[in-house]
Amino acid sequence: MCGIIGVLSTKEAAAPRLLESLSRLEYRGYDSAGIATLSKGRLSRSRAAGKLDNLRRQLTDAPMPGSSGIGHTRWATHGRPTTTNAHPHQSGPVVLVHNGIIENFRDLRRDLEARGQVFETETDTETIVHLLADHLGAGKTPQQAVADTLDELDGAFALAILFEGHDDLMIGARRGSPLVIGVGEGEMFLGSDALAVAPFTHRVIYLEEGDWCELRTDGYQIHDQVGAVVDRPVSIVQGAGAAAEKGNYRHFMQKEICEQPETTARTIAAYVDALDQSVVLPGLAETQIDWTKVSQLHMVACGTAYYAACVAEYWFEQLAGIPVKTDIASEFRYRAPALPSSGGLSLFISQSGETADTLAALRYCKAAGLKSVAVVNVATSSIAREVDLVLPTLAGPEIGVASTKAFTAQLCALAACAIAAAKARGRIDREREIALTEALSSLPRLFADTLALDQSVAGLARDLSRARDVIYLGRGLYYPIAMEGALKLKEISYIHAEGYASGELKHGPIALIDEATPVVFVAPDDALFEKSLSNLEEVVARGGKVLLVSDASGLSKAGDAPTHTIQMPACDPFVAPILYALPIQLIAYHTAVEKGTDVDQPRNLAKSVTVE
Ligand code: G6P
Repeated sequence: MCGIIGVLSTKEAAAPRLLESLSRLEYRGYDSAGIATLSKGRLSRSRAAGKLDNLRRQLTDAPMPGSSGIGHTRWATHGRPTTTNAHPHQSGPVVLVHNGIIENFRDLRRDLEARGQVFETETDTETIVHLLADHLGAGKTPQQAVADTLDELDGAFALAILFEGHDDLMIGARRGSPLVIGVGEGEMFLGSDALAVAPFTHRVIYLEEGDWCELRTDGYQIHDQVGAVVDRPVSIVQGAGAAAEKGNYRHFMQKEICEQPETTARTIAAYVDALDQSVVLPGLAETQIDWTKVSQLHMVACGTAYYAACVAEYWFEQLAGIPVKTDIASEFRYRAPALPSSGGLSLFISQSGETADTLAALRYCKAAGLKSVAVVNVATSSIAREVDLVLPTLAGPEIGVASTKAFTAQLCALAACAIAAAKARGRIDREREIALTEALSSLPRLFADTLALDQSVAGLARDLSRARDVIYLGRGLYYPIAMEGALKLKEISYIHAEGYASGELKHGPIALIDEATPVVFVAPDDALFEKSLSNLEEVVARGGKVLLVSDASGLSKAGDAPTHTIQMPACDPFVAPILYALPIQLIAYHTAVEKGTDVDQPRNLAKSVTVE
């Protein structure tokens, strides 16, 4: 979850370089931030609770010397988000930053305390730094101290470590959490991803599970988990360098919502041959994935990506006739699910490609012999590198913590994948393929048209922002959209919201209906609309205030039953759920703006969840 950067250089600019990198890593957490630098063999530290700006101000007032250093943005797991608990952590001559969780930290802490060690923080990380100092105190070299400490740790970690008196040495280690080496000219870097080192170099080495490395300004050595010296390939990562800018937008989330005509177009273009009006999954031919032999599709994801899977479940079942099981990754991985010995295919959806539970689920499926596909937005991510087939979403960097353009890009890629599967299985003919690709290709224009609703949605948000609870209802493909709508609202406005299947209304949520609890119905005039309309009437009959999101014909059928309406353009039913994601994003965005919350960095959340 946390962001890590390490710079080993002779240029006297460690602190500003660390800050630059940390500003790109805030998506991993923003509870606190800190840096440590090494200057003429001496360590110094600066840490601040809260957003990175607090640390930046602190460093303007009290600049830190040094050409090398380590930095960290934190998403608190063990210990409150205070300055004391902020990384880097130091014990005598050693200082380090950590991403991950040390599972046996209580035992380690008890042992260390029994030996007289005094702990300053509530973190699991502090045990690592004391263990290292202990080994150094016993006369070991930094390398021996690291190797012995790693042997004592259980759990997941990525570490960057500096040692007093060793100006030309930085050590990194990874187990469970990703870590990359950045190879510069006469300088070296460590980062929790390629984005972290992108301002300094495009040459990146992805450390493998269990690796640790020694960096010097003029080179590096990598050891695998048994300590053997190993070679790892250098990759050239382009395009990770450009820091995202808000431009004229007030928030990244607003900008990302407005980018969707372009991001859906880019993603669709990756899978739809516009001339031929056919769907192609690039790379499929090399994977031995044969849709005709798939008897069970397991889709696994977290958060918003999970709701994309829930929508895609309908497409794979209805269009391609494939039985589907859709799971939340944190549940899937520990349920020890029975997987088919043949005919099983696994599909993972992740914006970051680093979500710890999704990655673990992927490894579980691979170990069971299933082929794997991933829909990911970060092409260099761990999930992208470990699957058999990557279906990239071309949404570009998503900075707002609440996912918007990545979600609709995931839906576009999944829709294309379902068409490809249906075609391969002989479930759709050429005419239907053309109709479906036409529907997909119309989406970017429809997104642009729907964005024109922005100001009218902003007007509706004023009422919503006063609510304590909001209920979202939808049927069929709109049930996951309702759940995503509720998630978006609670994430950024802190208003309690629940997404329900409209048909479940009578089985509980109807008890919550009163004048003060708005109900958002997401229901175009499709085959299930009459049923949704009955549910809507049931709410109105109980004094509930309804906001109906539907098309012209749906709104006309609903008459004056809804208190408020959002009129969507008419749209092919196949792609309509993708388009209906837009008004629910706008509702959440404007409600949060109305409430004055921190839209791009809502409290307690992080963009990328790399701990379980
Ligand atoms: C976090 C983010 C969500 C995201 C989820 C899954 O909770 O705040 O926006 O949907 O992780 O992330 P992934 O990167 O795997 O899509």
